[in-house]
Amino acid sequence: MKILITGSEGMLARDLMPVLKENHEMMPLSKKEMDITQKDAVIKNIKSSAPDIVINCAAYTKVDTAEEESVSAFQVNGIGVQNLAIACTEMQIPLCHISTDYVFDGRKGRPYTPFDNTNPLSVYGESKLAGERYIQWLMNKFYIVRTSGLYGRGDNNFVLTILRLAKEQQSVKVVTDQICSPTSTLSLSAGIKKLIESGNFGIYHITDDSGGGISWFNYAREIVSMAGISADIIPVTSEEFSRPAKRPAYSVLDTEITRLAVGYAPEKREVALKKFLSLK
Ligand SMILES: NC(=O)c1ccc[n+]([C@@H]2O[C@H](COP(=O)([O-])OP(=O)(O)OC[C@H]3O[C@@H](n4cnc5c(N)ncnc54)[C@H](OP(=O)(O)O)[C@@H]3O)[C@@H](O)[C@H]2O)c1
Repeated sequence: MKILITGSEGMLARDLMPVLKENHEMMPLSKKEMDITQKDAVIKNIKSSAPDIVINCAAYTKVDTAEEESVSAFQVNGIGVQNLAIACTEMQIPLCHISTDYVFDGRKGRPYTPFDNTNPLSVYGESKLAGERYIQWLMNKFYIVRTSGLYGRGDNNFVLTILRLAKEQQSVKVVTDQICSPTSTLSLSAGIKKLIESGNFGIYHITDDSGGGISWFNYAREIVSMAGISADIIPVTSEEFSRPAKRPAYSVLDTEITRLAVGYAPEKREVALKKFLSLK
């Protein structure tokens, strides 16, 4: 397939493209080359390059800043995705869109399936839900892939931040009361590849396998231990470690439907982390 990737300089896109390149022709477009908030440019670019599918890796991802920049968050995560949905519908091609566990409020206490009700707690979560909704309102052929706690290339992710702080400060405060399923961009990329090759449209959850989930605190301990760094990881509550955007207390995503639909078995969290650390 000819695959057009938006936001091609982002963390996920940079790991996804080499994985897809094995079997597909890649057409990467960075923010500079195609700003998804510009409807005319989106339609023009997608028409002229005539891809078989668009994968949207472009997003406004500054979760805390979004509380004060809701217009920018909605412009990119809502209207930008609407523009892509309109262009793909005109071209009669599917859109694969990446979304987040932050569309849930975390009150369920058990892993969320794609059929659970959404109820975001933050502006970022609301803006990502807006994008999901536009796709469902405008399109028949789409994949919405919700994922969680991504880490990969670049320097702006939890794993690399913990490694840096552990080396710089010897002790790092991490929250104990947020449970999630951290995910390597490499394993997510393998899941996305399987999904877009399947033709089984719908909403899917793809994360690494943490069983019933892991707290950021325990995950930070796992990271420093696996990296062989001696640093104190100090447990704190979300209240003590206050941040502008509210996060769900429990946002583990249930990946069973993805396994049933396309045979994607999630990577074990520890295995994915080990691979990532060995590449560094
Ligand atoms: N990171 C996580 O922990 C996480 C968790 C769950 C879900 N997700 C979702 O996974 C997807 C990929 O995330 P990521 O971590 O790879 O994000 P990222 O590294 O922030 O990449 C997003 C890319 O989109 C670009 N972009 C921003 N506004 C744009 C616009 N108007 N038009 C075109 N491109 C634009 C950004 O460019 P600039 O940097 O120049 O603005 C950046 O290159 C997103 O949909 C995100 O919501 C992420």
